[in-house]
Amino acid sequence: MEKLKIEKNSVQETLIIPLYGRKMCSEKFPELYTDVFAERLCERLDYDFSELEKKKDSFIYEFGALEAAMRQLDIKWEINNYLSQYPEAAVVNLGCGLDETGKACDNGLCKIINVDFPDVIAIREQLIPESEREFNIACDLRDYSWMDKVDASKGAIFFAAGVFHYFKTEEVKSLVLELAQRFPKGCLVFDSVGKLGTRLMLKTALKNMEIKDIDEFFYVNDPAKDLNWSDKIKVSFRGYMLGYYDMKSPGIRFLHRLLARLGDSLTKMSINKMIFE
Ligand SMILES: C[S@@+](CC[C@H](N)C(=O)[O-])C[C@H]1O[C@@H](n2cnc3c(N)ncnc32)[C@H](O)[C@@H]1O
Repeated sequence: MEKLKIEKNSVQETLIIPLYGRKMCSEKFPELYTDVFAERLCERLDYDFSELEKKKDSFIYEFGALEAAMRQLDIKWEINNYLSQYPEAAVVNLGCGLDETGKACDNGLCKIINVDFPDVIAIREQLIPESEREFNIACDLRDYSWMDKVDASKGAIFFAAGVFHYFKTEEVKSLVLELAQRFPKGCLVFDSVGKLGTRLMLKTALKNMEIKDIDEFFYVNDPAKDLNWSDKIKVSFRGYMLGYYDMKSPGIRFLHRLLARLGDSLTKMSINKMIFE
């Protein structure tokens, strides 16, 4: 079977980090997390995984895999929660990469929409067939024309997993205000890290991959204050690693949970929810 090439040194390449993390997590900690798609997808990519493979048993890489899995579990929790109120809502994956969270939350009624750059969507479409009630939009998220294609008549939940780190603060703010204006009763969920965390984790991870076209990062030290952009947006937040699940699961060590606690408190890893009024 033909393999699909992922360009090196690009934002596109960043989709590898969480995808590989989810594959690794479901191999190592299947009771906590399973991802039937991630392994199959990694096999179909023309990408040199050897560096990641070499490090996969190190504590810090194990923790990185847990980060990818916990983020997806948290976001799934929020989507299911929203769908319990708006079962026919649009579930919109912003910067979807090769992530199938929308499908994993499919209740048989919702609409699933995946948005990413055209080159990523082109790869996605060769690897992942669109299911019933699902479609992809190839567009830069900063070009708001993609929003015209979202039917939010029955509600809409937007989520961005590991995406806004590649945006400037002003770009995130502007996108959020546009969403709030266009989609009353809509909801947006996304992860963020504080300034220290961004420096420590993200930059190291990206430097390892020699990604050069990311010049500025969005960070959030205090969600209640930093995300207070409009009185029409209700902001709430929870710890990214331990805010939804206690991570007490076979194979998860005390040290993993300790680092998770530090991640949430010291480096301000957070899952943020905005409800548009
Ligand atoms: C770290 S990956 C995360 C992928 C996916 N959300 C996941 O959890 O596996 C970041 C994704 O955001 C996409 N992205 C970053 N900036 C974007 C933009 N301005 N417009 C559309 N997609 C963007 C990248 O192409 C990439 O697929």
